Amino acid sequence: MRECKPILQMEGIVKSFPGVKALDGVKLSAYGGEVLALLGENGAGKSTLMKILSGVYKKNSGKITIDGEEVELKSIKEAEELGVAIIHQELSVLPNLTVAENIFLGNEKVNKYTRKINKKLLKDRSQRFLEQIGCKVNPEILVKDISVGDQQMIEIAKALTKNSKIIIMDEPTTALTEVETKKLFEVIKKLKKKGIAIIYISHRMEEIFTICDKVTVLRDGKYVGEAITKDATEDDLIAMMVGRKLKEQFPYKKAKSKNTLLKVENLKYKNKVNGVSFEVKSGEILGVAGLMGSGRTETAKVIFGEYKKDNGEILIEGKKVKINSPKDAIQNGICYLSEDRKTEGLILGMSVGHNMTISNLKNYENALKKIDKNKEQNDIEKYINKLSVKTPSSKQLMKNLSGGNQQKAILAKWIMLSPKVLIIDEPTRGIDVGAKKEIYDILNQLKESGKAIIMISSDMAEVLGISDRIMVMHEGKVTGMIKHEEANQELIMKCAVATNE
Ligand SMILES: Nc1ncnc2c1ncn2[C@@H]1O[C@H](COP(=O)(O)OP(=O)(O)OP(=O)(O)O)[C@@H](O)[C@H]1O
Ligand SMILES: [Mg+2]
Repeated sequence: MRECKPILQMEGIVKSFPGVKALDGVKLSAYGGEVLALLGENGAGKSTLMKILSGVYKKNSGKITIDGEEVELKSIKEAEELGVAIIHQELSVLPNLTVAENIFLGNEKVNKYTRKINKKLLKDRSQRFLEQIGCKVNPEILVKDISVGDQQMIEIAKALTKNSKIIIMDEPTTALTEVETKKLFEVIKKLKKKGIAIIYISHRMEEIFTICDKVTVLRDGKYVGEAITKDATEDDLIAMMVGRKLKEQFPYKKAKSKNTLLKVENLKYKNKVNGVSFEVKSGEILGVAGLMGSGRTETAKVIFGEYKKDNGEILIEGKKVKINSPKDAIQNGICYLSEDRKTEGLILGMSVGHNMTISNLKNYENALKKIDKNKEQNDIEKYINKLSVKTPSSKQLMKNLSGGNQQKAILAKWIMLSPKVLIIDEPTRGIDVGAKKEIYDILNQLKESGKAIIMISSDMAEVLGISDRIMVMHEGKVTGMIKHEEANQELIMKCAVATNE
């Protein structure tokens, strides 16, 4: 039940980073037993505000009140002691520890005499918390061996162990399957009943309407307003977020496909890819749908040479090509934008600009094999503008960009390579509604310039909205190839679970 006094109040919060005023007088209040959505475009300041609340960053000014008392949150530990837990946008699990060790990291019970950790107890306690969120992963395996979805579940279990009264979830479902998301929502309902306040950040509007009671909207570091979810429409909230009305979320343009650019025949890889054959034409977007574990990403990685195929052929413009490494793939005009940007796509400690050109430095060499810095910089600026990457300058370190803007910078990197075939895996994960539309416009431009695009996506609306054809996969096999005009959600789901009626 909602309580009448807020558990948490933040008022006049200001936070500046060099060159960026990330928060400029923001307010927010959260009540026990309620889910408050924090909405805003990429770079609006959502994560920064939550990092202040959880003691990661110090505010420049403003007031925070928890349970009616003004507090200074000087460290993560202090915030935890006051009952604030956060599940960060970028997963922060430790890959070489077990699931159980991650859940109780820094919080393990040690035997008084031997100073050793009781492994059995650790396992049993972890199991209990994992069960609460319906996660079946074995607590004794290493985190690096489990899926990104399960890693996210571990972060959630970890927050649950801390007995918190305010739980912040910063884009918790980006890597979860539909089933896992439903389970998470069940858990959130239980937390609500216990009187916990939940602050929930997501770019998926349907989630906001399913699970959140209220929303607070930020734009460019400023407070825009609040709304009660059941009294608002999606359009209302989007208008508050982007400050204008959005037209045509999926600007579909019919393909003028001509020649086949990429053809794969009978690809096999371990038991993940079981004889996949398909082709993509120039000027075409091939959407790839399927549930998690259907072999979509593995297929892409085999084509890109990251995984060594056991069998099959790859043909570019009718000619067989040998691809044994990503370098071979790039030389043959194939690029792959990975779904997991943190580990595969970007170098956090390097500047935004350098991240964009690092795979393509050859392009900027002059006759003397020296990098033409001006040419490089011009290109960087051009693409930062083209993709509206929000950054004070191209020299900014990648790690200082908001999650969605990191994704845009990586997309820019691959587009700059000007590949014939661009494979993109979950391109709009974590991207706000306005920027999604910009990305679709860019994909359409690439398509019109004759590129072949393979777009792997779990976002059904996006797959249906901009693909010319949709390939559906299930257990490493192609179970459907559907034309734009004939596609609908039901048909895709039927192929994705491979039931034949
Ligand atoms: N440590 C930092 N150093 C410098 N700038 C930062 C830092 N952290 C965040 N910023 C900047 O502050 C602004 C707000 O970023 P924040 O991560 O809070 O956005 P967000 O609303 O969470 O966006 P997204 O939806 O993309 O995750 C951005 O311009 C970002 O680049
Ligand atoms: Mg964020």
